[in-house]
Amino acid sequence: MKIGTQLVQVGVGTDAKTGALTTPIYQSASFRHPALGQSTGFDYSRTQNPTRKVLEEAIAALEGGSDGFAFASGMAAITAVLMLFKTGDHIVVVEDCYGGTYRVLDKVFANFGLQVSFVDATCLADVEKSLTPSTRCVLIETPTNPLMKIVDIRAIVDIAKQKELYVVVDNTFLTPYLQRPLELGADIVVHSATKYLAGHNDVICGLVVSREKQLGERIRFIQNSTGGILGPNDSWLLLRGIKTLAVRMDKHCRNAQLLAEWLQRQEQVAAVYYPGLPGHPGKQIQERQAAGHGGMLSFTVHNPSLVPHILKQVKLLQFAESLGGVESLITFPAAQTHADIPPEERMRLGITDCLLRVSVGIEDIDDIITDFNQAFANA
Ligand SMILES: Cc1ncc(COP(=O)(O)O)c(C=O)c1O
Repeated sequence: MKIGTQLVQVGVGTDAKTGALTTPIYQSASFRHPALGQSTGFDYSRTQNPTRKVLEEAIAALEGGSDGFAFASGMAAITAVLMLFKTGDHIVVVEDCYGGTYRVLDKVFANFGLQVSFVDATCLADVEKSLTPSTRCVLIETPTNPLMKIVDIRAIVDIAKQKELYVVVDNTFLTPYLQRPLELGADIVVHSATKYLAGHNDVICGLVVSREKQLGERIRFIQNSTGGILGPNDSWLLLRGIKTLAVRMDKHCRNAQLLAEWLQRQEQVAAVYYPGLPGHPGKQIQERQAAGHGGMLSFTVHNPSLVPHILKQVKLLQFAESLGGVESLITFPAAQTHADIPPEERMRLGITDCLLRVSVGIEDIDDIITDFNQAFANA
């Protein structure tokens, strides 16, 4: 079955008793035992809930993994994965990762003695150089956030496998519709499912998928022990969102490509970062490992004084954090999503006071461009 069909069919016909077309919301904390020593398969909803189970099986199938896990947020999902490691372990993380990932490593896991090196994962020599005898994992995002650099997943897997390291890929920006890292040899995929998978800017949720059962069992233990699970209502919202992922994602990609091309022609714009543009250094890798370029782009303006004006003048685009919903959003990473990265480090990475990030929605592209046009003219 093609992935577009698989997506639409997620959760259909899971309730044999009633024939409900969609998966019901099992809003129950606990489940009655038929008899001593017997279980319906559900005992207590932290451990497993029927609505969450359908979602977890769906994401495992979509990513091509053995086990899926649903968490209360993308950060809860990433935190659960980081709990696989112990004091003294070292992990290598892509340097322009999501600011929250940086923060949890720098301010929370550092307290537990987890060592981290942030590296430019597009430079394989730098990745190799950063490995130590204590390294256990390489965690990447591709495209990176917010500079849209492309990391070669298979090349990272090749390096990691020589040393028996886990490769974890945050697949939030592309989703399994466009990119399936487990098929390229990664061990774990994580998602802020808040974004494209849920797709409507109305629910916070996270997902993890393991490639193999053994690792899946370790994550299941962490999920049940630490308890950051997704509730049944939000599991249902996410199941509903996933059904329309293919049509949404196709439109996000089309709109982002057209907006990137338009932005390149504007005199106020210094640079546009979008892997679908000719000349993007990661374009070839992207086209090898993914089925599209995604709906995210960023750009710099020549003069930082334009930034507050653009953010004030946009009308259709919402000045808001987050991404991946049907509505177009514009973000100022230096002060929002990446504010927890120290200023000098942000400058080195290129997350400057001139950089804006756009989550290109699925509105009519003419209206998105018209909005930018008037915002630039009035800025
Ligand atoms: C790439 C990426 N990973 C993880 C997260 C964290 O997800 P959540 O906000 O659902 O906790 C985000 C949030 O913006 C993100 O963009």
